[in-house]
Amino acid sequence: MSQQIRTAVITGAGSGIGRAVAQEFANNGVRLLLVGRRLAMLKDTLDSLSGDGHSVVAVDVTNAGELKTAIDDFANSNNGLDCLVANAGINPQRAAAADVDADAWGETLRVNLDGVHNSCQSAIPHLLKSGSASVVTIGSIAGLKGMVARAAYGPSKAAVINYTQSLATDYSRQGIRANCVCPGFVVTDINRKWLEGLPSAKRESLEERHLLGLGTPPQVASLIWFLASPGASWMTGNVIAVDGGYSCH
Ligand SMILES: NC(=O)c1ccc[n+]([C@@H]2O[C@H](COP(=O)([O-])OP(=O)(O)OC[C@H]3O[C@@H](n4cnc5c(N)ncnc54)[C@H](OP(=O)(O)O)[C@@H]3O)[C@@H](O)[C@H]2O)c1
Repeated sequence: MSQQIRTAVITGAGSGIGRAVAQEFANNGVRLLLVGRRLAMLKDTLDSLSGDGHSVVAVDVTNAGELKTAIDDFANSNNGLDCLVANAGINPQRAAAADVDADAWGETLRVNLDGVHNSCQSAIPHLLKSGSASVVTIGSIAGLKGMVARAAYGPSKAAVINYTQSLATDYSRQGIRANCVCPGFVVTDINRKWLEGLPSAKRESLEERHLLGLGTPPQVASLIWFLASPGASWMTGNVIAVDGGYSCH
């Protein structure tokens, strides 16, 4: 049985699911490095956390060099790193393939895929020394199957799913478990305006498709915490939807 984790890096921790993950991990006694681009948002998350010794750093996950420095500094000053939650993600344009503009395509893949890779590449050397390490990535139901007008976002999340399975294949025997959580619709900054702009019939049908209604960040964070914790010691390479029943019918 692996040990309880002591330290974790959470990307995209300034809002939404990342903030709820930070709160859940802090409540379980984990010391955190919170990563995102907007310092003020990270500080708001920090102020909401229990425990002490947490750090924040304003870094773009597409900047591999700065991210490595931040993760190295945190791991070196906290006696190692046990967990990475690679959560930062964007969805700048909802469009079908022919309508996706080049900037949105590139940005989506740079943040959602390169950003996850940069985070993992920096964390893995530390995680290998942990003895109870895990990576949790955030895919999406849009990465499991096609979804209307997600021609950039969907493939970026499908790639995250396969990337996580690759991580598990390469590192599980060396002590790093890797699992991917695929949320259904959770109301956060990534989709709030889009959801508000939906015609009411479409909004109702989206809510009905989720048998338990739309989700909340803590409902996703509790699964992420479970996957990072010793209770999930026989789970690796697993891809788990947390979607209020969206994908079961
Ligand atoms: N909400 C949903 O319905 C849903 C469903 C499936 C999957 N997801 C996934 O869940 C994850 C969290 O999203 P969320 O719903 O919590 O939305 P959110 O509130 O918009 O959170 C995304 C976070 O990522 C950070 N971020 C974005 N680009 C970044 C970059 N280049 N470098 C560092 N940080 C960056 C943002 O902060 P800064 O802008 O300050 O950097 C923000 O705090 C994402 O991967 C998203 O794709 C969400």
